[in-house]
Amino acid sequence: MAYYSDEIIEEVRSRTDIVEVISQYVNLQKKGTQYFGLCPFHNEKTGSFSVSPQKQMYYCFGCGAGGNVFSFLMAYENMTFKEAVEELAPKCGVTLPQREMTYQEKQRADKRSRLFEINKEAAGYYYKMLRSDAGKQAMDYFNKRGLTPDTMHKFGLGCTSKYSDSLYKYLREKGYEDEILKDCGLITIDEKRGGHDKFWNRAMFPIFDANGKVVAFGGRVMGDGEPKYLNSPETEIFNKSKTLFGLYFARKTRREQFILCEGYMDVISLHQAGFDNAVASLGTALTEGHAGMLKRYVKDVYLSYDSDGAGQKAALRAIPILKNAGISCRVINMSPYKDPDEFIKALGAEEYEKRIAQAENSFMYQVRMLQNNYDMTDPEKKSDFQKEAARMIVTEFPTQLERENYTESVAARFNIPRDALAKYILELGQSGITAKKDNSNRQYEAKPGKPKDDGMKMSQRLLLTWLVEEATLYSKIKEFVGPDDFEDGVYKQVATEVFKYCEANQPVDTARIVDLFMEDDERKTVAALFNTTVGELTDSSDLSKALKETLLRIKKNSLELAQKNGANLRSLVEGKKKLQRLERIEISI
Ligand code: UTP
Ligand code: MN
Repeated sequence: MAYYSDEIIEEVRSRTDIVEVISQYVNLQKKGTQYFGLCPFHNEKTGSFSVSPQKQMYYCFGCGAGGNVFSFLMAYENMTFKEAVEELAPKCGVTLPQREMTYQEKQRADKRSRLFEINKEAAGYYYKMLRSDAGKQAMDYFNKRGLTPDTMHKFGLGCTSKYSDSLYKYLREKGYEDEILKDCGLITIDEKRGGHDKFWNRAMFPIFDANGKVVAFGGRVMGDGEPKYLNSPETEIFNKSKTLFGLYFARKTRREQFILCEGYMDVISLHQAGFDNAVASLGTALTEGHAGMLKRYVKDVYLSYDSDGAGQKAALRAIPILKNAGISCRVINMSPYKDPDEFIKALGAEEYEKRIAQAENSFMYQVRMLQNNYDMTDPEKKSDFQKEAARMIVTEFPTQLERENYTESVAARFNIPRDALAKYILELGQSGITAKKDNSNRQYEAKPGKPKDDGMKMSQRLLLTWLVEEATLYSKIKEFVGPDDFEDGVYKQVATEVFKYCEANQPVDTARIVDLFMEDDERKTVAALFNTTVGELTDSSDLSKALKETLLRIKKNSLELAQKNGANLRSLVEGKKKLQRLERIEISI
């Protein structure tokens, strides 16, 4: 499957300096043997992002992003592996082999970049149209909605013509074939009628990916009409449930919170009013994919959904999705206006700022919405509501501390006798009802279903990092520990590679090891694995002690596992002997 041979890939990687490449995107400062800067993959104020010239790898201690120079370009520039190789090869003087490709191969190989090109061409075409005679109606429409020329420019707004095939003709003239046009999301090719534009007579909103490349469009009817908005379908470069409108601008603010709203116009109005951290999901309810994207940049989100019934429903659906991703959210109250766009038009930015400051805790919002379903003048219904609120506290919060705090607030806010509520909550707790999950510890890598990183993995990581950094170590440890003592999966695979280099007395090519793994998650694990620090241990006797403890833990663990899995007696005895010897001797570094 690989497009270029391993040799070529290695050539490019080894001739490229990762520090130089990443410096083009991140301001790096040298500290010791490493470089540090602000992580481009999540928002932060202190630099947790490190680049190691020795290992030719990067790693963020904050969000866990990591890998080699190829994975950096793939993550940051949204490139494929092949594109990353092609980007770097000419810069380091490697000529990539040009093999003869068949027509189909060529089509496939170029497809993504051609789709980007087409969307960009279309954006330019729509942009010019808006600013021409043919765009008068759309320009009037945008003006009527209060958008300034600067705003229209920033968001690249445009419009389509009244004719149903003008973009199609334009793109054909530019040399694009039906073959590719049918997949760009903007054109329908009909066997009998030929090519047609998907969008006509609409005001156009280009959708940028996180790196500012146009990947799709939304088109609005000017005035009333159905459907109000039409959106590009998903394509090879547009994944709806991972794309957020406004994200390209919002991420550059490096703010610690984003404002999440529902519509194109909400985002645009908010940005125009100075809230340039506003984003929206596009014509779909918020998904886990969106939440994951948000999590890359912020830990807190302000929900600014419509204040009508549909908007409330959407907010109630979004809150648990955000919480699951480890994002805490607050809800902005926009009443009496329907959405942020209308609110800002009516009351202005300062008032909106106040509403942000007053935003409601998402749990309190959930309880308030629940209360709307009950007739609070009926004591029975009122008790039902109160019991349900108690149940929500118990199932949402795992700790005593949170339960008590929320009992306090909910009792005060909803007029519930405090002690009775507390007592009922205690009873629920005793009856065995528990929190859905312990989310008190939802840190960056806490993915649902993923076992927590335990001390054992930490020891294994430490040893591998150590082997990479300290060439003399291998001869001292090899008689005790081998690749088989490492956890199955990525750890063992990496250990096998590391031991191979050590055995051959060669420096460990960490960046090359990254490329053995194709999945993003695996690459991150590898990066984390080579970036474990021995902490503050500087004194060499401390180091020796730490090394011995690390080896002992790894060995004991693997022996226990082997025993559990019924390994043969001889290898167990063999292992025990090694362990005993290890316990007796001194290892010095
Ligand atoms: P709204 O109807 O709230 O639109 O839909 P809006 O953004 O306030 O639009 P204006 O102010 O009337 O121009 C919210 C979002 O839902 C999607 C769009 O992404 C829209 O911005 N939507 C809505 C569609 O995809 N199709 C539709 O027909 C309507
Ligand atoms: Mn609106």
